[in-house]
Amino acid sequence: MDKLDIKLWSLAAKGEIVPDRSLLKTPAQIREIRKSADLNTGVLDHVAAHIKAGMSTAEIDRLVYDYTVSHGGIPAPLNYEGFPKSVCTSINNVICHGIPDGNEILREGDIINVDVSTILNGYFSDASRMFTIGEVSPRAEKLVRVTKECVELGLSAAKPWGHLGDIAWAINSHARENGYSVVEDIGGHGIGLEFHEEPFVSYVTPKGSEMVLVPGMMFTIEPMINEGSPDFFIDEENGWTVYTIDDGLSAQIEYMVLVTETGVEVLTK
Ligand code: MF3
Ligand code: CO
Repeated sequence: MDKLDIKLWSLAAKGEIVPDRSLLKTPAQIREIRKSADLNTGVLDHVAAHIKAGMSTAEIDRLVYDYTVSHGGIPAPLNYEGFPKSVCTSINNVICHGIPDGNEILREGDIINVDVSTILNGYFSDASRMFTIGEVSPRAEKLVRVTKECVELGLSAAKPWGHLGDIAWAINSHARENGYSVVEDIGGHGIGLEFHEEPFVSYVTPKGSEMVLVPGMMFTIEPMINEGSPDFFIDEENGWTVYTIDDGLSAQIEYMVLVTETGVEVLTK
């Protein structure tokens, strides 16, 4: 038992939820995962430079696939549990896991989440951005702005030896103050050595609850914020696409973060 083991053990003895040591990345792993995260950011920047009205979501998929592969990576979504494309593209009332389609054309006024996940030399990274296509309604504009604020407030609330619930509380409070709701049953996740690791990250839990944030942990901050009801349904035909139950707009922004001794660092956003 080293010092860290003793600290984790004594926290657990007090009833705290602590990560298994296997969830704490070593400096060598962090170096490799950083390279994957940098490529992931490059993919998102590439999409940002090209996304526009009139383009199909299949064209976004092509941009992601070509850029990733030409830089030595693999798009993590491709064939992940049967997912058929390289990226998730979720427009307007789609909460997440939209499947790129040649017949789905971006129109002026749309808001879209592009969720990019990358494997580089076996290491995983994941982040997503919202894009507004041309002029969008004030309603859509506000939802995207507040979603960004939610993620930034969640990040500010994240501290080594704090709790995952601190992040959730900051996010959920800001969403509710703006009249929005946070999706409950879909959340973030640990990441790095695999696409989805422990812990599950909820964005509706109370301050001080859930897992303790221990240096070396990596996970995503990726709340889904709905204009109306937080409830959803999943496309029966493709088994993936998640829609708002009331047809309201939904937005999501995802940062992948690393807990360090002194703070919380964003690896890709
Ligand atoms: N980036 C999404 C997440 O955070 C990926 C979902 S799995 C996929 O979980 F197959 F749809 F890509
Ligand atoms: Co994710």
